[in-house]
Amino acid sequence: MEKDYITSILKEKRIFKPSKSFSKNASIKSMGQYKKIYKESIKNPNKFWAEKASELEWFKKWKTVLRKKGNFFKYFEHGKLNVAFNCLDRHIKAGKGNKIALIWEPEKGATKRYTYSQLHKEVSRFSNVLKYRGLRKGDRVCIYMPMIPELAISMLACARIGLIHSIVFGGFSSDSLRDRIKDCKAKMVITSDGSFRNNKIIPLKNTVDDAVKKCPSVKQIIVVKRCKNKIKMKKKRDIWWHKEITKKEIKDKCEAESMDSEDPLFILHTSGTTGKPKGILHTQAGYLLYVYQTFKWVFDIQDKDIYWCTADIGWITGHSYIIYGPLANAATTLMYEGAPMYPKPNRFWEIIQKHKVTIFYTAPTAIRALMKQGDKWPKSCNLKSLRLLGTVGEPINPEAWIWYHKIIGNKKCPIVDTWWQTETGGILITPLPGATPLKPGSATFPFPGIVADIVKENGKKAKPNEGGFLVIKNPWPGMLRTVWGDDERYKKTYFGKYKRIYLAGDSARYDKDGYFWIMGRTDDVMKISGHRIGTAEVESHLVSHKAVAEAAVVPVPDKIKGWAIYAFVTLKKGITGTDELRKKIIKHVADHMGHIAKPEKIQFADDLPKTRSGKIMRRILKAIAEGEEDVGNITTLADPSVVVNLKKDRIK
Ligand code: WT7
Repeated sequence: MEKDYITSILKEKRIFKPSKSFSKNASIKSMGQYKKIYKESIKNPNKFWAEKASELEWFKKWKTVLRKKGNFFKYFEHGKLNVAFNCLDRHIKAGKGNKIALIWEPEKGATKRYTYSQLHKEVSRFSNVLKYRGLRKGDRVCIYMPMIPELAISMLACARIGLIHSIVFGGFSSDSLRDRIKDCKAKMVITSDGSFRNNKIIPLKNTVDDAVKKCPSVKQIIVVKRCKNKIKMKKKRDIWWHKEITKKEIKDKCEAESMDSEDPLFILHTSGTTGKPKGILHTQAGYLLYVYQTFKWVFDIQDKDIYWCTADIGWITGHSYIIYGPLANAATTLMYEGAPMYPKPNRFWEIIQKHKVTIFYTAPTAIRALMKQGDKWPKSCNLKSLRLLGTVGEPINPEAWIWYHKIIGNKKCPIVDTWWQTETGGILITPLPGATPLKPGSATFPFPGIVADIVKENGKKAKPNEGGFLVIKNPWPGMLRTVWGDDERYKKTYFGKYKRIYLAGDSARYDKDGYFWIMGRTDDVMKISGHRIGTAEVESHLVSHKAVAEAAVVPVPDKIKGWAIYAFVTLKKGITGTDELRKKIIKHVADHMGHIAKPEKIQFADDLPKTRSGKIMRRILKAIAEGEEDVGNITTLADPSVVVNLKKDRIK
């Protein structure tokens, strides 16, 4: 799709302006207003952020808005607040205790609703459980859970008493879970007996049992009963949530811990260039402020809105825009447990109809998959409640954009195509729905306070449409503070190429009107169905299979997923590459790393293209996998003849 995508966006001339009625009621009503705010925010960012920060409730006011030390940034030092307090107590104090905070839609069964007061009580009780179990400020807690209310409650309970959560997406398998637990030395894991997806039960607790075998830091595991399937509970270590939370020692009230602005809030691992995932660290005040402000303006949140983001909370999108951003704004946020096509391909549209969702935020890959099912599914539901749509995670091709606009948004809903990353904490490049004229496929302009640019290899600004590296030239409150336990990696990855400016790892261009167009990753990171996966991580799981000698993976264009994984594998001496072995290797990767990392295709090869120093040349493999006749310069290869065989055996 990459090439098709690039030709189609280069030809893209259509512009969609927000309707007058939308703009009239929006918080940012025109491009003029956006430009004015933007200009002021850049001229004096500290004043801009300080003004916004005063909308939050502080236990103690900060002294300095920003302090820089090399590539390290600190916001609101000497200030004290609590994130969970700002997401719950603050609204209750303002008389919104009876407003619905969370709507939970299970895959099967009855909807649950929590008002702000009810959620506050659940969170306080669970905070008390965590304290009762001996956890103290600064301890790490790993959360490995399905999309159930207890996940939201766990996060907020950690935040309430100053524990650092590290959520691992439930689609990751035992090795990935183990590596993440080990990296942050979590003392506790919170999980469930299983999770429902597509009417199947995924046995999360078994995966945890497996993972913690090699994690001595984990002393306790709290288990939510969700599926009533049989699991083993280890004495002294494993604790049932429902038994613990109802103990008489556990009270309804729990004071929110006063946290320093720069105390850690959470760690979230993401893939990078090496096989070892990076623990991205976000801290208290800056992160909260950034998701608060972006949620408010990008989604133009209003009191009556029912907001639904379909992401999993195991990814940053869920952290920032299912939980912290919406709750900081006293919004009503919907959380859905299941899969998009279960029981039928209209499940999403039914949920919108049932709950009268007004704002809907999803990934291009989901839009493409649902589009493929045909218009009859969305047309079978009443989607009139929708007023705003959003996308995130990967570029959206104009065809999918137009379908989303026409069939889901009935041509009246603006679409916010939001560009950001785990590292950025919140949205950096995005339309503001009441202001920005939209171009399908473009994330448009930077959010106030953000200086985004595109530079060439030599660091000079690229010309319009020339393309280059996407960089951010100033710090912002929601940015990562470091890679957990690895300041060097932080400096090298994000500030290694251009010293003082943040390197996003994406290539992009801006057009003559200044619109940003994101083209894709420039490093060894793949976006598979919008999920971020490192080539090195997948390769290490391939070579851990006993039949495999060497492996190299590349992303290839895929009509639905955006990209799919194509693996080149050389086998150990004497082993023949059969279809059966192929299946076994794929299953091996799924079992150890997770289904999302499964190679779509495996090509067995006698040899891989390597330089004389032994480095595998992925550029050539990518060209071969994509079926290019001309694979580029091969003169640096130790043995250029390998290319001929690889081309011959390509899997279409
Ligand atoms: C990478 C970050 C943003 C939260 C979810 C993903 C790609 C993200 C867009 C967009 C084009 C996008 C980039 C980015 N990406 N949003 N609107 N248009 N590309 O977070 O897993 O950290 O991935 O996702 O390549 O670098 P993540």
